[in-house]
Amino acid sequence: MADLARMVEALRNPRLQGFGTTIFAEMSALALRTESINLGQGFPDTDGPVEIADIAAECVRNGPNQYPPLPGQPDLRAAVAEHQQRFYGLSYDPDTEVLVTAGATEAIAASIIALCDHGDEVIVFEPTYDSYAATIAMAGATLVPVILEAPAYELDVDALRGAVTPNSRLLLLNTPHNPTGKVFSEEELRAIAAVAIEYDLVVVSDEVYEHMTFTGPHLPIASLPEMRERTITIGSAGKTFSFTGWKVGWITAPSELRAAAMTAKQFLTFVNAAPLQPAVAMGLRLPDAYFAGLRNELLAKRDRLSAGLLAAGFDVVPTQGTYFLSANITSFAAAHNLPATSIEFCLALPEAAGVVAVPSEVFYQTKEAGRSLIRFAFCKKDDVLDAAIERLSNVN
Ligand SMILES: Cc1ncc(COP(=O)(O)O)c(C=O)c1O
Repeated sequence: MADLARMVEALRNPRLQGFGTTIFAEMSALALRTESINLGQGFPDTDGPVEIADIAAECVRNGPNQYPPLPGQPDLRAAVAEHQQRFYGLSYDPDTEVLVTAGATEAIAASIIALCDHGDEVIVFEPTYDSYAATIAMAGATLVPVILEAPAYELDVDALRGAVTPNSRLLLLNTPHNPTGKVFSEEELRAIAAVAIEYDLVVVSDEVYEHMTFTGPHLPIASLPEMRERTITIGSAGKTFSFTGWKVGWITAPSELRAAAMTAKQFLTFVNAAPLQPAVAMGLRLPDAYFAGLRNELLAKRDRLSAGLLAAGFDVVPTQGTYFLSANITSFAAAHNLPATSIEFCLALPEAAGVVAVPSEVFYQTKEAGRSLIRFAFCKKDDVLDAAIERLSNVN
């Protein structure tokens, strides 16, 4: 066994070192062990609309259950194109400019692998969703972080310009942004667009939380002048319809960029989720009330958890979108004699309070930047949020 361990260690791709079991799995295991309320990992504890699930169930029983076409079933591609038109006035040709993927995660991976080679640089706003750094490493490219400083997380345009080099290929944007809950303002998106145009960068825009904005309608960067032709936009049925386990996502992009991503997808998964695709198509065509309802429900949960955390003694960082909110732990840790650094704090919190959160440190390459922040997911039932608040309010 020891020899096998050594052999595997020697074979392991050095670029993936440091990307072991994620903290999310570790924290979920800790939640189970300590019977804690898990506000760590970001998935809802209530499934999405039953009418969508009914179509999926019917399709599992009666088909389609065989490989769909490589780019996705034509009707789902049509529904994705209709959705981009309906909400953002963006036109995409379902036959050449839409690609169905195995979740947004594959859309991100296919885009990066398709467009980056060794030595290429990908500019990301840090903190980042955790798949970005690993995927960039798998492609052999280099992540170049531009830090968004808490608590305002404002874009530093000079820092963005300073991050561009002759090796820059992609700019990876995420709005609304995980883990901060930031929604990039129109002014910020225009500044990012100006840099992308000036330096001829492709923008990969991860918009999986597009229907969870609390400050006004979502603005895709592809809708800004001269941006459609250089942007790959990514969506997720898992997020939009609360079926995170389905892993159905999509890309909308000009045909050349979509073709590039499709080449990578072909050899990552080829195709995915045949019987779920008609169900997602139906979901994308639901009336506006569904999408407004999702936002309003999450807005109420954000306010519920924010108020509860504030009352319990956390410094809550305002959240404009997503189903996450961050809190600064410094004063809470001092008041309750808990560690003041986020990983140690989150490891101690289940024992101390019976609640699991995620240390924001794991979303940064520049670890110090996230050391005093933790992230909670508020896409949970009200009584679960209330119970977590009560536990946090009663820590000794
Ligand atoms: C910013 C961001 N992008 C992508 C994903 C993954 O989406 P999917 O489950 O559709 O692969 C997540 C999931 O948490 C996310 O937060």
